[in-house]
Amino acid sequence: MARRSLVLLLFVAIIGCAAIRQQKSIPAASDDLQFHNLRVLSPTITHDELIATMRGYARALGTRCEHCHVQTATEPRPEFDFPNDAKPEKRVARTMIAMTHAVNADYVSKVNAHGQSVTCLTCHRGRTVPETAATPQPERRPGGAPEAPPPTPNAQPAPPPP
Ligand code: HEC
Ligand code: HEC
Repeated sequence: MARRSLVLLLFVAIIGCAAIRQQKSIPAASDDLQFHNLRVLSPTITHDELIATMRGYARALGTRCEHCHVQTATEPRPEFDFPNDAKPEKRVARTMIAMTHAVNADYVSKVNAHGQSVTCLTCHRGRTVPETAATPQPERRPGGAPEAPPPTPNAQPAPPPP
């Protein structure tokens, strides 16, 4: 009895190993989600890497997939024509991807004492158009009330201490 269950265990183990080997031999990007219109990203990018990259773009710009991709349905669930280049935002994004790559390859990698590299987030910080110093600063609360009391027009600055 003990011997028989040992044999069975061995058998199960061998089958298991074969199954794992078979799984490993499947190339990562061989699912039916092969990409058709990659012009700047690596053609060998895996599905998981591409989706993580896209989520990064959406987060960096504070948008969702439809900001750059043509949406073909909203119900019952959102669907997209991802290879389609009709949206100008997608074409701008290609330029931005190439620019970011060049900035890192040609410049930042030569001075990266802090191990950082430039990403979409470096400039975009959750906005489609990066904020500049000229953007009005006073933050408004959801209710519309200013964060700080508005400056009194005629208020004099406090006199410097004697
Ligand atoms: C800031 C713009 C932008 C956002 C946001 C964005 N993408 Fe993309 N996406 C692109 C660009 C640009 C390409 C093409 C890259 C290239 O040419 O190498 C692309 C390509 C793709 C592709 C490959 C299409 C093909 O077959 O060629 C898929 C799939 C994709 N995106 C999915 C998504 C998903 C899912 C989201 C939301 C999580 C998303 N994208 C958000 C810009 C964006
Ligand atoms: C060096 C700063 C910088 C970096 C890095 C950067 N961008 Fe931009 N991006 C800009 C500026 C500035 C604009 C606005 C240009 C203009 O005036 O139209 C812009 C505009 C865009 C737009 C058009 C915005 C819209 O919706 O009208 C998209 C899309 C975009 N960037 C995507 C990206 C993506 C994706 C990345 C990362 C791969 C990225 N950007 C990295 C500076 C940057």
